[in-house]
Amino acid sequence: MTRTNSRRALPAALLAVGLALAPGTATAAPEDRPHVTIIATGGTIAGKAEGRDTYTSYRAGTYPMSDMLAQIQPEVGAFADVDVVQFGNAGSGGYTIEQYRELTLAVEDALEESDAVVVTTGTDTMEEFAYWLDLTVQNRKPVVLTGAMRPWAAGETAGEAGVLGADGPANLLQAVRLGASGQTYCFGTVLMLNDEIHAARDVTKGNTTRNDTFITRQLGVLGWIDGADVHVQRAPARVLDCAQEEWFTPFDLSEVAAGSLPRTEIVYNYQQAGGEAITAFTEAGVTGIVTAGTGAGGISSAPGQARRAAIAEGVWFASSSRTGSGTVSGGGTGIIAAGDLLPQKARLLLLLSRAFTQDIEQAREWFATLGTPSFDQSALAAVLSPTPGAAPAPEPTPTEPAPEPGATAEPTTAPPAGPPAGEEPPAGEVPGGGEPGGEEAPDGAEPTEAGGAGGTGGPGSADWLPALGAPVQGALTVAALALLVGGTLYAYRRRAFTVAFGE
Ligand code: SIN
Repeated sequence: MTRTNSRRALPAALLAVGLALAPGTATAAPEDRPHVTIIATGGTIAGKAEGRDTYTSYRAGTYPMSDMLAQIQPEVGAFADVDVVQFGNAGSGGYTIEQYRELTLAVEDALEESDAVVVTTGTDTMEEFAYWLDLTVQNRKPVVLTGAMRPWAAGETAGEAGVLGADGPANLLQAVRLGASGQTYCFGTVLMLNDEIHAARDVTKGNTTRNDTFITRQLGVLGWIDGADVHVQRAPARVLDCAQEEWFTPFDLSEVAAGSLPRTEIVYNYQQAGGEAITAFTEAGVTGIVTAGTGAGGISSAPGQARRAAIAEGVWFASSSRTGSGTVSGGGTGIIAAGDLLPQKARLLLLLSRAFTQDIEQAREWFATLGTPSFDQSALAAVLSPTPGAAPAPEPTPTEPAPEPGATAEPTTAPPAGPPAGEEPPAGEVPGGGEPGGEEAPDGAEPTEAGGAGGTGGPGSADWLPALGAPVQGALTVAALALLVGGTLYAYRRRAFTVAFGE
């Protein structure tokens, strides 16, 4: 794994001249450019073709990313300060789960300094790379996967004999633009190809050769990029937990020893399928098997029998569908319903579940929650008025001291109006969480909103202020003024940036 910063390697004067001469390129002041790390793993985007007009005959994972990045300079340097980690240079199918673990750690490492990470991979298993990172990266900053359907060039270097109509350069440029925009902060990992933005959990490769191969069945894209304009118009439900510690998944791979990740496999069902594959996997020590069933998850009788025997041996099953969309519900002893996760995604969640718990009920809960994040705003009805101008719901006032831990207490007051523990906090409360490990939000993110620090601000909402005493009131006043000044400066800089780069 090598790390380079091609922009920093260029003589500064040369770069400045290049940026000034590049048509249609506006330059942000260096201190305003977000820092984006590209972690390159290979794939068709780094592919060397037999000829400039050859789209299907090429060697994937050939050109180093630093050479490819040089081909999209100075344009990319106008909006991002980019460095490169060459993690590998191979077809996507060649990576092992152990290397996936290392990739997660490399992404987390890069995000300590960078505002966003772009990972380039082959498109064949890009959706698996993406979902793996979505499930494991312990950082709220944007992670963007990209690649290409056509090889980059046909020459000895990435700068010679560019393939006609190659999509790699544009995909790389736009992926960095998306990461640098900060607009997918707290989205987890997203995939961007062909100017379309997809959620890692939902996206799949839908065509063997077309440039618009990636699709998100049922849900559609999160957004798109028109020229320099990033449009994000939907979000994965996971974003609701942005300000909570629950945003982070339990799958912190820094806690898992190298080489200790268990094997999980997929078995495809079809008319009169045999059960031997399940039996063989079980004998080989596989700990979890995803069935890609027919319709809503059905499997034939021979695999059904083999599954019962495997469950008796301690193998966990996740039931999914080969249809490509729709929900599989139910489950049972030894069997977890995979919901609407595609088999290849369910297999990764099953693998991580087996790595992090011995309790199948815990794994079942993970599939139902972080495996299937969904919107439920119903608890807000108890704390937010449905109509404008109404007074906010009163805070519950305890009339008795809290009982000692372990003691049982009869409730003497009306139940509080707020939602049960673990649900959305009432408006105006500052939820726990915030930036882990002293991270900073990237340029363009709005950490104060994301941190949930906004109060209701309505008349009477500051009744509690005098009770805090003069020193605390003073500190709060100074903080409010700092926020006001900071917010104004931030809005001014955003406006200046938009004016400069509106095109
Ligand atoms: C691969 O997945 O490595 C080859 C196919 C591609 O990148 O499009």
